[in-house]
Amino acid sequence: MIRTHVHPTRDAADASVAAELRVLLRAEPRAVLGFATGNTPIGLYRTLAADRAAGRVSLALASSFNLDEYVGLDPEDPRRFGAWMREQLFRHVDLPLARARFPDVDAVDLDAAARAYEAALASAGGLDWLVLGIGRNGHVGFNEPGSSVDSRTRVVELAETTRADAARTFGGAENVPRRAITMGVATILGAKRIRVLAFGAAKAAIVRACLHEPVSERCPATFLRGHPDVELHLDPESAALASP
Ligand code: F6R
Repeated sequence: MIRTHVHPTRDAADASVAAELRVLLRAEPRAVLGFATGNTPIGLYRTLAADRAAGRVSLALASSFNLDEYVGLDPEDPRRFGAWMREQLFRHVDLPLARARFPDVDAVDLDAAARAYEAALASAGGLDWLVLGIGRNGHVGFNEPGSSVDSRTRVVELAETTRADAARTFGGAENVPRRAITMGVATILGAKRIRVLAFGAAKAAIVRACLHEPVSERCPATFLRGHPDVELHLDPESAALASP
């Protein structure tokens, strides 16, 4: 069952998730955190940055694994998720960069790199807490429709809707990478706590599907319903089509 919270505003949702993370990090300073990129978590990361600046939170002993990374971009490309995370979060908090992990998309053997990422996460003890966004097509991480519930970290082809959604960042859908390495659905479901954020009217239909459509590979976000500690944090616009 997904515990759903409809907040009056997006800021209120970010504040609530950030507050939980502060409590978690106080109790478990060595927590292993899972981070998403994209528009959705920007406010949460801003809140964490403000919390750090005010001395309300420390990530000095924590470590992190990002969900996914594009394949095929130059290592210095600012559109890589690694660069994005440094800009949006890491340069504002005290998480040591050496413990902020991403799939090694520059490896010659990408399949081996994906397996190594899964193994590194397992040897860190798995994720204690993971923040997710949802793609308009129901993807979580880059587990596009058709991804199986037992999938692990692997190389994937991005769906056309995913590439269309990234077109603006890349100056046209044709410039968006075609592949990525993503944690699998089973990798995601292995996290102890999953906090899903979805904001705005553009996410209303997929939020409804995630909560009410039959659990299936056609909408990987529906697999979250099988997790014992998952919360969905919405604003009124993204909640508009979901039944109470
Ligand atoms: C990003 C990721 C994706 C996004 C999703 C929503 O690391 O794995 O699943 O969370 O595409 O993207 P936004 O937040 O830009 O709507």
